[in-house]
Amino acid sequence: MKRIISIILIGITSILTATADEGMWLPSLISQRIGDMQAKGFKLSAEDIYSINQASLKDAVVLFGRGCSAELISAEGLLLTNHHCGYAQIQKHSSVEHDYLKDGFWAMNRSEELPNEGLTVSFLERMEDVTSVILKGYEPTMTEDERINLVRHNSNELIKSITEGEKSLRATVEALYYGNQYFLFIYREYSDIRLVGAPPSSIGKFGGETDNWMWPRHTGDFSLFRIYADKDNNPAEYSADNVPFKPKKYFKLSTAGVKEGDFTFIYGFPGYTQEYIHSEGVRYVSEISDPSKVALRTIRLDIFNKHMSQSQAVRIQYSTKKARVANAWKKWQGETAGIRKMKTVKTNQEYEKRFIEWAKGSEYEGIVEHIDSLYRQLEMHHFIVDVFSESVQTVEIARLSAQVSGQDKDALRHILESFYKDYYMPIDKECFIAVMTEFGKMIPSDYHPDYYKEQIQKYGNAAIWADSLFAESVFADIEKMKQVGDNYKDVFLHDPASQFYLNMQNWALPHLNKARSINRELQLSYRTYMRGQMDFAEDRTVYYPDANLTLRVSYGHIKGYSPSDGIYYHPSSTLTGIIEKDNPNIFDYNIPQELRDIYAAKDFGRWVNENGEVPVCFIATNHTTGGNSGSPVINANGDLIGINFDRVWEGTMSDIDFDPDFCRNISLDVRYVLFIIEKIGKASYLFDEMTFTE
Ligand code: ARG
Ligand code: ASP
Repeated sequence: MKRIISIILIGITSILTATADEGMWLPSLISQRIGDMQAKGFKLSAEDIYSINQASLKDAVVLFGRGCSAELISAEGLLLTNHHCGYAQIQKHSSVEHDYLKDGFWAMNRSEELPNEGLTVSFLERMEDVTSVILKGYEPTMTEDERINLVRHNSNELIKSITEGEKSLRATVEALYYGNQYFLFIYREYSDIRLVGAPPSSIGKFGGETDNWMWPRHTGDFSLFRIYADKDNNPAEYSADNVPFKPKKYFKLSTAGVKEGDFTFIYGFPGYTQEYIHSEGVRYVSEISDPSKVALRTIRLDIFNKHMSQSQAVRIQYSTKKARVANAWKKWQGETAGIRKMKTVKTNQEYEKRFIEWAKGSEYEGIVEHIDSLYRQLEMHHFIVDVFSESVQTVEIARLSAQVSGQDKDALRHILESFYKDYYMPIDKECFIAVMTEFGKMIPSDYHPDYYKEQIQKYGNAAIWADSLFAESVFADIEKMKQVGDNYKDVFLHDPASQFYLNMQNWALPHLNKARSINRELQLSYRTYMRGQMDFAEDRTVYYPDANLTLRVSYGHIKGYSPSDGIYYHPSSTLTGIIEKDNPNIFDYNIPQELRDIYAAKDFGRWVNENGEVPVCFIATNHTTGGNSGSPVINANGDLIGINFDRVWEGTMSDIDFDPDFCRNISLDVRYVLFIIEKIGKASYLFDEMTFTE
C-alpha cells in the first residue's frame, strides 16, 4: 500500500445498499456471512475461515511489513506476496554487480536465501470485541478530547496486560464504525524473513506505470520469502541457527484454473476506506483535493520523465520515487472520474435529505447539517495542508533538512549516504520552481505566507529564487556537504533549504492544528451519524466497518466488465497479451529475451489453460483496497488460485463508493507464478515443498 493516507479527512461513505459483492468483513463475525458465501459457491465453513480453537485459513495469511498482505504456501514457511511489496527488500540487496531488480533473484537452496533486517510478518492470533473494556469510565458529558484520552488509557492498559513479558506479541485496539465499537487484535510477529525469489522487473513490474491501475493487465507481480523461527518454532531475530517456520496452516495451490462466475475469496489487510462519508467529504476529495494533488504531481512527473529519458543513471535513481508519486497520482484521477460518473455527491445529498426528514425529533436531528458545517470550516485548512504536502514537502533538500535536524553524526552519515545515492539536483530544482510557482496560484493570495511573499518580491520569481537557494544550500551539493565540519547543526539551521522549510512549515502548522481539531469534532459527529445510518437503514440491513489495516474477508466472483459503450473486457489475460505488448523500445514493455524464446518454442510445461495458453492475470468482483496487495485469492474449496495486486481504473472510487458494474480487483494467476518460477527462475525445486490440487 504505497500511498499517503489522508490523516485529516475522515469520513464515513456513500449510501448504498450492501449490494452484490461489496464489503470487507470481519473474520471473527464471518458466521453472519457464511450463508451468503455458501449460496454463492463457497464449500467451507465459518470455522474453516477463522477459528481460535483449530487451525484455520487465517493462520496462513499474514500482514507483510506494515502495508501489504502475504500467504503461506508450504509447510516450511514459504511465503508468497507481490513484487511491489518486496520491492524495497529486493532493491536493498541489489548492486551494480547483482542487480536483482533488473535480473531477478532466485535462491537455489536454503543457504542462499537473503535475510532482511527490519522486515516482519504478523499472524493474527485472535480478535475480539472489547468495546465495554475500552469505554469503561465513559460519561456522555465528556468532551471528545476526554473520550480520546480515556480510550487511549484503557487501550494501553489492555494491551499491556496481554503483551507484557511476551516479546513477539503485538496487540492493537482499533476503532470500528468511528468508535461505536472497539476491537482488540493480537498478533504474533516474526522477524527473520528471507528473500527466496523474485522475477526480473521486466516481468514483476511488466507494464510499469503505463499499465498500473489498468485492465487488461499482464504484470507478474510476485516475490517469494521464507519465515524462519528458532528451533521451537518461535519468533526469533535473525540467526544462522534459525530453521524454516512450520505454519499451522498453509494454502494448497490450485492449478485447475479459473473461469467466469467462479467464487473468489480474498483474505488480507485492506488499509483505508471511507464508505459512509458525507456528500461534502466526497465533494472535497473529488473536486478539490484529488484534482489539486494530481495537478502538482503531473508537474513533477513531467520533470522526472524528461530527465529520466535523457540519462540511464537518473532513470535508476528516480524509478522508485517516480513509482511512488505516479501510483497515487493515477489512482486519484481514476477515483475522481469514478465519483463523477457515479454522481456520488448528488446521490449522497439526496440520501442526506431523506435522512434529515427521518431524523426529526430523534437523537440524530441536526447531525447531517452539523457535519456539513464542519466540512465548510475545514475546507481551507485542509486544502492548505494538502497543497503544503504536495509542494513544500516534495522539495527533496527541504525534506532532507528536516530529516537531519537533531541527528547525531552516525545517523547523519546514514541519512546522507542514502539520500545522495538517489539525488539529482537539476530535477529537484526544476520541481521547486514549478511547484512553488503553482503554489502561488493555488493558494488564494490572502493566505500566502509572508515568507513566500518576501522571497518572490526579493527575487522576482520562483526561478531566480531557486537559483539562489540551490546555489547556497549545502544540501544541494554533496561536495559542499562533505566539507561541513563539527558545527554542522548550526550550518544546517541557517541553510536556505532549512529556512525555506521551517518558514513554510510555520505557516502551515496552525492550519494543520485547526484541521486536526475540526477533525476531532467530525469524528465525534460521524460516530453519531454512522449509528444513525445504521438505524435509518432504508433498504439496507448489513454494514461492514471501514478498512483499517485489520484482517478482512471479501468475497465475490470472477467477472469481466464493460468500461464503456461497445467495449467488453474478458476476465483473464494470457502470455499472448504480453507478447502483443512486447516492445524492446518501450521500457515498460521490454520483456526478457528468454520469455520471447519460451513463447516461440511454446515451452509452457504444465502451466497452461484449457486452450494451451499460459494464464497471467484475472479480475473479480472482490472489494479490496491498498494493503490488500499480496492477499491470497482463494477458490470455493479454500485453495489458492492467485495473488491480489491491484484494481481496475474505472473502479478506483471503491474506497468511497463501490459500483458492482465497474469495481474489479486484479490478481495474478498462481499458474503464471509457477510458470515463471520454473521457466525463468529455474527454481522448480521449490515445487517439492508445495501441495497442488487439480
Ligand atoms: N496500483 C497498485 C497499488 O496500488 C500497484 C502499485 C505498484 N506498481 C506500480 N507500477 N507503481 O499499490
Ligand atoms: N495495489 C494496492 C496495494 O498495494 C491494492 C489496491 O489498491 O487495490 O495494496
